Amino acid sequence: MKLTLHIWRQKSPNHVGRMVQYEHANVNPHMSFLEMLDVLNEELVAKGEEPVAFDHDCREGICGSCGFMINGIAHGPQPATTVCQLHMRHFKDGDVLYLEPWRARAFPIVKDLVVDRSAFDRIITAGGYVSASTGSAQDANNILVPKKNADLAMDAAACIGCGACVAACPNAAAALFTGAKISHLGLLPQGQPERYSRALGMVAQVKQELFGSCTNIGECEAVCPKEIKLEVIARMNRDYLKASWTERPPSTRADD
Ligand code: SF4
Ligand code: FES
Repeated sequence: MKLTLHIWRQKSPNHVGRMVQYEHANVNPHMSFLEMLDVLNEELVAKGEEPVAFDHDCREGICGSCGFMINGIAHGPQPATTVCQLHMRHFKDGDVLYLEPWRARAFPIVKDLVVDRSAFDRIITAGGYVSASTGSAQDANNILVPKKNADLAMDAAACIGCGACVAACPNAAAALFTGAKISHLGLLPQGQPERYSRALGMVAQVKQELFGSCTNIGECEAVCPKEIKLEVIARMNRDYLKASWTERPPSTRADD
């Protein structure tokens, strides 16, 4: 297969970026998208040119490192698929593809297709954990979890923190990611003691970063490679509202 690639090239956060066109004639349909870029990079290095920088680690769809826009779609055209799990058989000979980094002020560009997603780390640090000791795996299994809650928590825990939801959102909101983390812990018994302080802390951190506000557009759910549902945002909002309400003095609660 032959492809024409237009790739965002930017040396550093302080340089001006631009789209650069590459003709890629050595694309095997069995390659993953990242392997296709590996081959392009080998050719660039052989010519003495700078390879295209992109993030990756597991290449199995579980670490959340990879991700960029392909023809305007976060992680590309295949639903529920990270870009590392996307294969070239989903494209046609002669296709023209535009590759751009995640679009969001909260994710500043580091280089080419690599962005800085440390804003997500700071949101997790603000409450996305359980501080009580839950013991060994055997002890943890002594705490019974209703099947429905276990399933919902597991669904939310599937979030890999890739940032596609932010990149796809017209507001660059981080609601799906934050909602997934709050839901995952808030649905489990071990997460109950800090459930409401967690919601307050994490939402406060989201506000401090440069993310926009959620207006229920749903682009995040549409591109999420782990099929995280919008319901996690509703659960986050409920926990946040309840936490805010209970923190207020009783005399101010009459209108709620
Ligand atoms: S909610 Fe989905 S799209 Fe957003 S960070 Fe998690 S896995 Fe990625
Ligand atoms: S490289 Fe780990 S999810 Fe893609």
